[in-house]
Amino acid sequence: MGGAYLQPLDPHSHKASSKNPGYFLSKTTCAWLVCGFLSLALLHLLCCSPAGTQRAALSPLLQYINNTYSFVSTVPGPQSAEETERSCNYAVGNWVWAPGHARRYNATECNAKESHDCIRNGRPDTGYLDWRWQPAGGCPLPAFDAAKFLSAVRGKHVAFVGDSMARNQAQSLICLLSAAFPYRLLYRDTGPGPRKHNFWRYAFPHYDVRVSFYWYPFLVRATGKAEDERVPYNHVHLDQPGDRWAADADTIDVAVLGAAHWLLNGAIYYNGSEVIGAHYAPAEMNYTSVGYAWPLRVAYRASVERLMSTAAAGRPRTVVLATFSPSHFEGKSTNDPTACAKTEPYKEGENDMEWMYREVRDIVYDEANAARARNGNDSATRIEVLDVSKLASMRPDGHPGLYMHDHPFANGKTTQGMYSDCLHFCLPGPVDTFNEILLQILRKRW
Ligand SMILES: *[C@@H]1O[C@H](CO)[C@@H](O)[C@H](O)[C@H]1NC(C)=O
Ligand SMILES: *[C@@H]1O[C@H](CO)[C@@H](O)[C@H](O)[C@H]1NC(C)=O
Ligand SMILES: *[C@@H]1O[C@H](CO)[C@@H](O)[C@H](O)[C@H]1NC(C)=O
Ligand SMILES: *[C@@H]1O[C@H](CO)[C@@H](O)[C@H](O)[C@H]1NC(C)=O
Ligand SMILES: *[C@@H]1O[C@H](CO)[C@@H](O)[C@H](O)[C@H]1NC(C)=O
Repeated sequence: MGGAYLQPLDPHSHKASSKNPGYFLSKTTCAWLVCGFLSLALLHLLCCSPAGTQRAALSPLLQYINNTYSFVSTVPGPQSAEETERSCNYAVGNWVWAPGHARRYNATECNAKESHDCIRNGRPDTGYLDWRWQPAGGCPLPAFDAAKFLSAVRGKHVAFVGDSMARNQAQSLICLLSAAFPYRLLYRDTGPGPRKHNFWRYAFPHYDVRVSFYWYPFLVRATGKAEDERVPYNHVHLDQPGDRWAADADTIDVAVLGAAHWLLNGAIYYNGSEVIGAHYAPAEMNYTSVGYAWPLRVAYRASVERLMSTAAAGRPRTVVLATFSPSHFEGKSTNDPTACAKTEPYKEGENDMEWMYREVRDIVYDEANAARARNGNDSATRIEVLDVSKLASMRPDGHPGLYMHDHPFANGKTTQGMYSDCLHFCLPGPVDTFNEILLQILRKRW
């Protein structure tokens, strides 16, 4: 593999095919990427608001990214006994060498976001594709099987709602499925920059399956920066699930919800028209500081409730809450070319990040348990947790890094000050494992 990928691809001469509608970054976008600071960059790798507002938005996330993580935590495993008794616990385990395991598709052929198509972008090492996740206790996690996935959701609508990590997983699923089965693009938003990746739906007609992505980085409705990078703040309506996905909620059979990064970065929060608090807003605005944990809980709760309220239509529904997938800037700035330059996973104990992600992850477990309790045992809605925090935290090698750019080391380019993506995963890459686990969750009897 690799030879064919090394041809330079001039983004400006590239003609979009019907299968790959326009997949290049404009020069302007690249300039924005280079000028990005961390907080915004984490938001969706497209940023350019005044430096001051971004510095003001320093978050707990930044603190952990700024760390070198020598701390080894002794906290217990993530799941309670009730979580594990019915099935394997995929949340804990280790990465074992399995040559070729993750070489499953060509991301250029499945509309993956350009900046995640590491092979096309010239990433020379491929060892990051040679690992599989082995859950603890010898529990098997089979390689992704597109036919099994599509059978498990035959006739159904699978919708991912959330931030750019949710999108990374949704695109991985499209790539894994479309490598094996014919598909049709049903719609895709048009617009500048990354918007074409933010709202889309595919159909897999052999199994009457639809897969959608709805970009709602707070799950609930957000205006301001979420809609326009030039605006300094996010205005987040905790009482209103994101309008486009909420409007489609009746049609969704399997919902995968994933958000946290934007909440860590802060926003001004509303209930109706009333401001109820803020996180990382300037002190002179005099808003009550509410941190990130409470809004995160409320956003998950509002979203799950929206899905449960529409389940009454007699249609069984599965709601999967995905946990936080941490980044690996490892004490470097986002425009340091050596940020996430590792080429192998961490070994057990080498770099335990649980202390960083535990709080954010546990909110998801709490909300899942609370929803089950509210729900009762006979409800049509099944609530599951897709816990990827540990497996993701062990893959500093799986990010695009500088290979988010097309051939970053090509003649005449300087990597000085070039932005590195140490948050999302290459496609193919470790994020495909999220979908291997999702498949097991969907196949599980309940
Ligand atoms: C991936 O697909 C693209 C577009 O079809 C093609 O140009 C490229 O050569 C493929 N790469 C490999 C390694 O097959
Ligand atoms: C990041 O690390 C540097 C050097 O260790 C330190 O001076 C700085 O205060 C840290 N920043 C944050 C936000 O923790
Ligand atoms: C919003 O206001 C309503 C009505 O006052 C209240 O019931 C609800 O709990 C509030 N929601 C939040 C997130 O504060
Ligand atoms: C915030 O509080 C200070 C001190 O009470 C006051 O002077 C200022 O006008 C307030 N700012 C806003 C935006 O309300
Ligand atoms: C659900 O079932 C369990 C055991 O079957 C029981 O302990 C629990 O109280 C039930 N919860 C509700 C909300 O009915």
